[in-house]
Amino acid sequence: MIFSEETAIVTGGASGIGKAVVKTLASEGASTAILDINLQSAQNVAEEVSSQGGKAIALYADVTQPDSMNEAVSRAIDEFGHIDILVSNAGWDEMKPFNDTDPSFWHRVVDINYLGHLAVIKAVLSHMIEHNTGRIVTVASDAGRVGSSGEVVYSGAKGGVIAFTKALAREVSRNGIRINCVCPGLVDTPLLASTTSDNDKIINAIVRSIPMKRVGQPQEIADAICFLASHQAEYITGQTLSVDGGLTML
Ligand SMILES: NC(=O)c1ccc[n+]([C@@H]2O[C@H](COP(=O)([O-])OP(=O)(O)OC[C@H]3O[C@@H](n4cnc5c(N)ncnc54)[C@H](O)[C@@H]3O)[C@@H](O)[C@H]2O)c1
Repeated sequence: MIFSEETAIVTGGASGIGKAVVKTLASEGASTAILDINLQSAQNVAEEVSSQGGKAIALYADVTQPDSMNEAVSRAIDEFGHIDILVSNAGWDEMKPFNDTDPSFWHRVVDINYLGHLAVIKAVLSHMIEHNTGRIVTVASDAGRVGSSGEVVYSGAKGGVIAFTKALAREVSRNGIRINCVCPGLVDTPLLASTTSDNDKIINAIVRSIPMKRVGQPQEIADAICFLASHQAEYITGQTLSVDGGLTML
């Protein structure tokens, strides 16, 4: 198994892409801590993993609250002894024109989609540096590479995650830590359903522009994330990988 004896933390692992990552890691032998604000759904995922012979625990944690992240990461380290892999995946958005947004919306989007990555990575980094090893995957978005109409603030935050990932990769390579970024295109998850309910025209137009003419499935993103988190990617760091049916080709 690819992740035999390994341990992982996945933020936003209660749903969508994060849930598929947790299940993939578990099926390949990893023990995983699911950190999410939706504790009930996180517990359901942990139970599903256990019922299939894997190991996962659910912990309440809010990526916008650094103290909450520190506490949950400490509990995961206490439970597993060490952490090999961090998938920083939690995210949120609501589609609306930039002109209809206000500062409280900007803060919410940036707190979750940019500062949230900093909070969980800071909580884990000292531990990885101490052990001189670690693999981190951030989940950004194609919106952060090419911009997305109706998701202007989110695009800026995700662009920040891409640049942050590159800069941190330069800083922590000497500590045996790799960090890469996966950019999903359109993926069939509850987040997509909630952001697109009033925006069918935009979504249909985007799907028509995808060379593969379809949205992605969570498992297709999880497979790319797990590859970058695995020892099969030992010479890859600081990279940005779009998983999007060819929507962007950078
Ligand atoms: N679905 C898409 O089309 C798409 C496209 C590009 C990027 N993404 C990115 O992929 C990632 C996963 O999205 P998804 O589509 O699976 O969404 P999802 O809504 O299905 O899952 C997101 C998870 O994050 C959790 N979460 C939200 N805010 C949180 C917080 N403050 N602290 C901790 N957990 C929190 C939610 O409870 C949920 O379990 C996100 O970063 C998203 O921006 C998704």
